[in-house]
Amino acid sequence: MNKYLKIAAAAVACATVLGVGGLMADPINETLTIDGQEMVSRTKAPEGHPFDEVYSGWLFRTEETRALQTDTFNNPAMLGVEVGEAIWNTVDGKEGKSCASCHGDAAESMKGIGASYPKWDKDANRPINIELQINKCRENNMGAEPYPFDKGGQKELTAYIKHQSLGTPVKIDLSQGELQSWWDKGKELYYTRNGQLNLACSNCHEDLMGKMIRADHLSQGQINGFPTYRLKSGGLVSVHNRFRGCIRDVRASFPKAFSDELMALEVYVTWRGTGLSVETPGVRQ
Ligand code: HEC
Ligand code: HEC
Repeated sequence: MNKYLKIAAAAVACATVLGVGGLMADPINETLTIDGQEMVSRTKAPEGHPFDEVYSGWLFRTEETRALQTDTFNNPAMLGVEVGEAIWNTVDGKEGKSCASCHGDAAESMKGIGASYPKWDKDANRPINIELQINKCRENNMGAEPYPFDKGGQKELTAYIKHQSLGTPVKIDLSQGELQSWWDKGKELYYTRNGQLNLACSNCHEDLMGKMIRADHLSQGQINGFPTYRLKSGGLVSVHNRFRGCIRDVRASFPKAFSDELMALEVYVTWRGTGLSVETPGVRQ
């Protein structure tokens, strides 16, 4: 077999494994409004981006799923956000403090904050996301134990904080510390083929964007709606859990939450969604 035939055969085999349908279903041409507030759900991509336009994952979901996000009253994830609000106001740890003791009303103190993470953390000498910032405050400012990954209210409190940025366009500052080199590393990982299926993030979320894979409509894999609510599992899903799920789906062993690999991916994938509104909590199938 010559080289080109081999590549074509591999592509067909891969499409069969994935069950990629020929049906093209472009992102719908609608604007997401939440309680009457207009979101930026598609926008011009930043310089150096592989796409001309970036799209929110909301544009790829079915009409019924989309409808759940247009009204916070109907959004099943708002229950989790309310749990997060209760945690915000609850005293925990040796210092006898709650988040509110220092940060007051989250609607003011946390407004827009979630749109600018991951940030560079000088003390840890690495990037941190909201989950790790919460743990930092719990340990250093409350005398409380850090939350284990996805446990104890981590998802709910993260969703509550991110929800205070609803509508704010995502923008991270890559000039902080060594954030740029983590972006570079995240980009490299994004384009590296992995697992038994030998697929990179880019193969699905870039090359096959807009196509159907089994019963799923492939989006750009944006994270502006995280933590999102998944109808399939009936609960909130964190960014690192979603990343791990996608890595597991290509039959590869997946890195630990908050590992260097997943933090680098989070920096890079966040940048890929620059300009999209924070939609937390998004609703997905
Ligand atoms: C004793 C006071 C205190 C308590 C209690 C506290 N924090 Fe903080 N928090 C700070 C200080 C000081 C900073 C800024 C310096 C830093 O990053 O540690 C901060 C920073 C933050 C930031 C980053 C803000 C930004 O501009 O990026 C977030 C998010 C945050 N805290 C969330 C929380 C949450 C959630 C809780 C409760 C689990 C909490 N904090 C409890 C004092 C506190
Ligand atoms: C085999 C194809 C495939 C690969 C490879 C893949 N994903 Fe996914 N991913 C999916 C499917 C299917 C979904 C659900 C539908 C959608 O939103 O695209 C999804 C969803 C996502 C979402 C949620 C998007 C949203 O709007 O809620 C993120 C984030 C994501 N993927 C990131 C990644 C990252 C990062 C990688 C590489 C480590 C990756 N994916 C690799 C198939 C893939």
